[in-house]
Amino acid sequence: MKKYFILLVTLSLFSCESSQNGFTVNDIECEINKDSSLADLHTLSNYQSVYTSHVHLDISVDFGGKLISGSVRHDLSNPCKKDQFILDTKNLTIKNVFLDNGEKASFSYGDFDELLGTPLVIDIQSNTKSVTVEYATTEKTEALDWLMPEQTNGKVSPFMYTQGQSIFTRSWIPIQDTPGLRITYSANVHVPSGMLAVMSASNPVEKDESNSYEFNMPQPIPCYLIALAVGDLAFAPIDHRTGVYAEKTMLEDCAYELEDMGKMVTEAEKLYGDYQWERYDVIVLPPSFPFGGMENPRLTFATPTIIAGDKSLTTLIAHELAHSWSGNLVTNATWDDFWLNEGFTVYFERRIMEAMYGSDYVQMLALLGYQSLQRDLADLTPDLQSLKLRLKGLHPDEGMSEIAYEKGYFFLRLIEESVGRDKFDVFLKDYFTNHKFQTIVTEYFIDYLNENLLIPNAVSLNIEQWIYQSGLPSNCPFVTSSRFNAVDSILVEFYKNSDVSTINSANWSTHEWRHFIGELYPQTTSEQMRIIDQEFKLTQSGNSEILAVWFQQSIRFNYRGIDQALEKFLIRVGRRKFLEPLYKALAATPEGKQRAKEIYKKARGNYHYVSFNTIDQILN
Ligand code: BES
Ligand code: ZN
Repeated sequence: MKKYFILLVTLSLFSCESSQNGFTVNDIECEINKDSSLADLHTLSNYQSVYTSHVHLDISVDFGGKLISGSVRHDLSNPCKKDQFILDTKNLTIKNVFLDNGEKASFSYGDFDELLGTPLVIDIQSNTKSVTVEYATTEKTEALDWLMPEQTNGKVSPFMYTQGQSIFTRSWIPIQDTPGLRITYSANVHVPSGMLAVMSASNPVEKDESNSYEFNMPQPIPCYLIALAVGDLAFAPIDHRTGVYAEKTMLEDCAYELEDMGKMVTEAEKLYGDYQWERYDVIVLPPSFPFGGMENPRLTFATPTIIAGDKSLTTLIAHELAHSWSGNLVTNATWDDFWLNEGFTVYFERRIMEAMYGSDYVQMLALLGYQSLQRDLADLTPDLQSLKLRLKGLHPDEGMSEIAYEKGYFFLRLIEESVGRDKFDVFLKDYFTNHKFQTIVTEYFIDYLNENLLIPNAVSLNIEQWIYQSGLPSNCPFVTSSRFNAVDSILVEFYKNSDVSTINSANWSTHEWRHFIGELYPQTTSEQMRIIDQEFKLTQSGNSEILAVWFQQSIRFNYRGIDQALEKFLIRVGRRKFLEPLYKALAATPEGKQRAKEIYKKARGNYHYVSFNTIDQILN
């Protein structure tokens, strides 16, 4: 336990002379955690010696110029009396830097790194309490998405939102951009009239005539969770502590879809302890949002593609809510430890879903997860198949595969099955409580797990293999789903005579459809696809998860009945999880690649950087 550090919330608990609370301070260098194998390699800042404790933003959102400009004040902790404060920046314009005494500070830039950006090196004095940077974003920002009115649901007002995870915050705020440091923040945000601004903080529920909004996030968070959205937004409450923000034109649909959110928070609390963030709201963004969901504290950002009309895709909300414990309360200290965020969250998400909808339902989710893990294992280089990643020199997004999510889930499920659910639940609840508002590395977690759960219960597991090796260990828990078995039997029958009339799908959930379509046999013909489509109208489905897998299989089996719908989908939706496999499938043949390029010409402008950067690489 002593070997590994936990970076505590405000870090202010430590002083130069002492070593306490699990991390070691090197007296000579006066830096925490000199073990470079545990340091965050995706920041160029000096957060381990001089660091921000609080950030205050004073910014204006300029839709005409598509930029954010203003200032950020960093309140500093400098226990080691360093004379330089180094921030991460990427493609920002830095105008001025001031010290707390009002004097201009001298500053310089380090070398530009394609991946990590440009370090901003600010000269400070040993007693400098704060530093204010005046800056503006540029058109090369990676975090911001600026939408024209036609790219929104209402089609009247523009819209903008930020995406910080993993290392994009530095492209809209000069900051020490590492998950290993927690800060509190506050903000004044000025917007054009008629617009509402919301953040991952205390939020307004209606527009203010002053066109200025004040925000406060008093709980310390890693800066990838600082988030802002501005648009013609309205709010609808769900219960006393949950609610939905969306454009007025879709607010009612969103509120209906997310009606169970209050109950989800209650179920989550029953499992692993009190919700620590006061409110839990969701904002449903325009379709360009590159993710399904993003767990910005107090305000999950979500794709509109979960609004299916029948609440069938709300697992995603359970997932983002679960991050309020795993990820936001206890945070991966580096992106190599990403599974600590996502694996725990998938485990927790499925426990919430089990509490809400029963174990049959969750077995389907787990099996879909297992199938998609198998697909990723077939594609990924061995290097990227271990839970503890080695992302040095790579963008952290490269680690965003089913390894962190599903291999992480199955590892935790293995522990659950080995010690029994009751003991595992006590352990997890204590884990969240004992480490709240802290950041940790995998090595620390494994020590904690051994000491507090495995050794006392005389359980021994091949942990090293799970954490450090590629592939899936043979003791991976086995999942079966009776509801999916029934679908499998139907598939057997279908391939005997291509007869769809006997398929009784009346009671199928979205997940049975995903399984049916996903498991179509490799020899499926385009004629069989046509027959299925004619009967079940899958090309016209309003359910994005069903559509996405249906399109993928249609491309694979050369069924062209989807062409128009596919083009429409690719132009409208910017969610990378859907786009990437579709463009890849198209790009597998020369004719398909040509078609993909033509569609992409019309679609690229509708995608966030995260998505177009990925698709650029596929179609280059
Ligand atoms: N935190 C992730 C999204 C993310 C990961 C953004 C890495 C940037 C880098 C979020 O919680 C997530 O996992 N979203 C999933 C939802 C799903 C697993 C239910 C998504 O967007 O598909
Ligand atoms: Zn997640």
